[in-house]
Amino acid sequence: MCGIVGYVGPKPAASLLVEGLKRLEYRGYDSAGLAITSDKGIKIGKSVGRVSVLENLVKTTGGFDGFCGVAHTRWATHGEPSEPNAHPHSGLTKSGHTIALVHNGIIENYIPLRKYLADRGHVFESETDTEVLAKLVAEVYNGDLEKAVQTALREVRGGYAIAVICDNEPHTIVAARKGSPLIVGIADSAYVVASDASAIIAHTTQVITLDDYQVVRLCAGAEDKKGDGGPWAVDFRTTTIDNVSVAREVTELEFDLEQIELGGYEHFMLKEIMEQPEAIRNCLRGRIDHREGRVVLGGLSAITRDLIRAHRFIITAQGTAYHAGLIGEYLLEDLAKVPARCEYASEFRYRNPIIEEGTVAIAVSQSGETADTLAALTEAKERGAIALGVVNSVGSTISRETDAGVYLHVGPEIGVASTKAFVGQVAVLTLISLYLGKRRFLSDEVVKAYLRQLETLPDLVSRVLEQSDHIRKCVEDCIDRDNWLFLGRGYNYPVAIEGALKLKEISYIHAEGMPAAEMKHGPIALIDKGMPVVFVATRGSQYDKVISNIEEVRARGGRTLVVATEGDEDIHKYADAVFTVPDIAEPLQPMLTVIPLQILAYHAAVLRGHDVDKPRNLAKSVTVE
Ligand code: F6R
Repeated sequence: MCGIVGYVGPKPAASLLVEGLKRLEYRGYDSAGLAITSDKGIKIGKSVGRVSVLENLVKTTGGFDGFCGVAHTRWATHGEPSEPNAHPHSGLTKSGHTIALVHNGIIENYIPLRKYLADRGHVFESETDTEVLAKLVAEVYNGDLEKAVQTALREVRGGYAIAVICDNEPHTIVAARKGSPLIVGIADSAYVVASDASAIIAHTTQVITLDDYQVVRLCAGAEDKKGDGGPWAVDFRTTTIDNVSVAREVTELEFDLEQIELGGYEHFMLKEIMEQPEAIRNCLRGRIDHREGRVVLGGLSAITRDLIRAHRFIITAQGTAYHAGLIGEYLLEDLAKVPARCEYASEFRYRNPIIEEGTVAIAVSQSGETADTLAALTEAKERGAIALGVVNSVGSTISRETDAGVYLHVGPEIGVASTKAFVGQVAVLTLISLYLGKRRFLSDEVVKAYLRQLETLPDLVSRVLEQSDHIRKCVEDCIDRDNWLFLGRGYNYPVAIEGALKLKEISYIHAEGMPAAEMKHGPIALIDKGMPVVFVATRGSQYDKVISNIEEVRARGGRTLVVATEGDEDIHKYADAVFTVPDIAEPLQPMLTVIPLQILAYHAAVLRGHDVDKPRNLAKSVTVE
C-alpha cells in the first residue's frame, strides 16, 4: 500500500528519496511524488506509474536541490491515479509559506474539513482526503511546524502516517502516526523517516517507532537551522498531538540490506520460495528442546497458564494469513484438543462477536499492519479475550497490541505474493498447538515424534523445490487455460485455497479453491475438456476420498495436476501431472504441499509475462479497510 520516505541530513535529498521509494515499490502503488525544501522554496514533482518515471522527471526538470524532503508512493483510495491526486500535497500559510505533506491512511472527516478550508480561501487541486490535511496544517501554521501539525491532527478523524515539511523551516521534517506504520531511522548526521524499514536499512539500523497520536520533529542542519554555515547539528523530539513530551527508545532493526535485495534471483517471490528451508530453520531455531522433547516459546511463557485453561481460540487474519489461520484451526483442535475457529478479520470485527471468558484471539499477520486484522484483534481484546500475535514484522502495530506472541523470524518478505511467511505462520501455529497439546492431552512420545519430523522439514522442503523445472513444464501445457480449480481435504483444504489465491493474484488466471467434496455441490458443472484441476492428494486419512474426486474430474475430461506423496506409484493412473512431497505426519503436510502450488503460480505468472513482484492492483500490506 502507500509508502512514505523522508530525509533530512547533509546529502542531497532527491536521489536518496527516489532510492527509498524504489525500495517501497514492492508494496504496490500507482503514482509517486516528492517535495524538496531549499532556500529557494519547496519544489514538488509527481508522476503516474513507476518510480522510474519520477526519477526521470527529477533528473530532466532540475531544481530539486536541497537537503530535506518527503516522498510518497500512492495507492489510490480517494480519486483515480493522476498527478493532481499523487502526493505530496501542499498548502499555503497565511504568511505565504508552503507546506508539503505525504500521507498514508484515510482522513474520515475530510468532507467537512474541506468545506471549512475552502470557506477560508484554500483552493483544492485534487480529490484526495490528504490535501485537506496539508491545507489544514497550512491554515493553523504560525511559524512552528511541529505545533501546526499537532493542532491539525487534533481535528482529524481516521488513520494517518504523515511526513510534513515547510519552506520556512528548511531543515525540519515533522512526522506523526495513528494506525499506520512509521519508523524513524537515526543515521550519522541525518534522519530518515519511512513507513517501512526497507527504505531505512540502507542508511541505518538504529530506529525509533512511534505510537499512535505521537509526533516527531526531526532537525538536521547547520546549528542556526538556516543552513548558513554554523556547525552541523541534529536533534529530534517526540511529543503527543497534545504537545506532551514522550521518550522513545532507540532499537536495532532486525534485518540487513542483503535480505531485501534480489541476490541473483529474477524475482523476490522466487527468492522467497527458494529460501524457505532457511526460513523454516530460522523460525524453529531455539524453539525445540530435543532432550526434553518440548516446545520452547518464550513469548508465551508469561501467560501459559491462561492458554492451557482457555476454552476457545479465535484465529483472525486476511488473505494468505487467513489460510494459515485455517490450518491453525485444524492444528489446535487436533493437537491441543481445544475448540478453535478461524475467521476473516473483516467479518469478525463487524458482526458483534460473542467472546466468552477464557477466549484467546490470535491475530496472524506477516506485516503486523493489516488494518482489518488489527481492528479484529482490538475488538476481541476489548471484549475480554487474551490477544496473541503470530507476526513476522518485529515491532509492528499488531505485535505491540498483543498480550503475548510468537514471531515468525522468517526474514522480511518483499514479494507481494506471500510464500515464506505462510509456511512460517503454519510452523508457528504448529508449535503453539504442540506447546499446548503437551500441557493438555498429548503424550510425551507423540510430541517428540512431531518435533523430530518438524526438524527434518527444511531438508524435505529442499527436495520439493528441486521440482521447479518439472512444475514449469507441466504449467506450460495448460497456460492458455483461464479457469482452474484447486481441491484438497482436511489439512490440505486450506492449502488448496491458498494455491488458488497464489495463482490468481500474480497470473490473473481465474482460480477457485475449495474442499474437494464441495465440488459435487455445484462447481463440477465447470469442468470441461482440458480444464486444469489441481488436487492435493497426499497419503493420509482422506486419501481414498480424494482419489474418488480425481476420478470424477477425469470422467469429465478435466486435466489433473496432483500433489502426491513420494513413492505413490498408483497416483500416476489418475494424474496428468504429478508433483511429489516427502511423506510426513498429516498435521505437518501443509508446509510441504503448499510448495509445489507456490512454484506453479510463479511459473504461470512468468509464462504469461506478468511482473511477479508488482502484480496489478495489489498492495503488500493493506493498511486501510
Ligand atoms: C497474498 C497476500 C495477502 C496477505 C494479506 C494479509 O499473497 O500476501 O493475502 O496475506 O493481505 O497480510 P498480512 O499477513 O500482512 O496481515
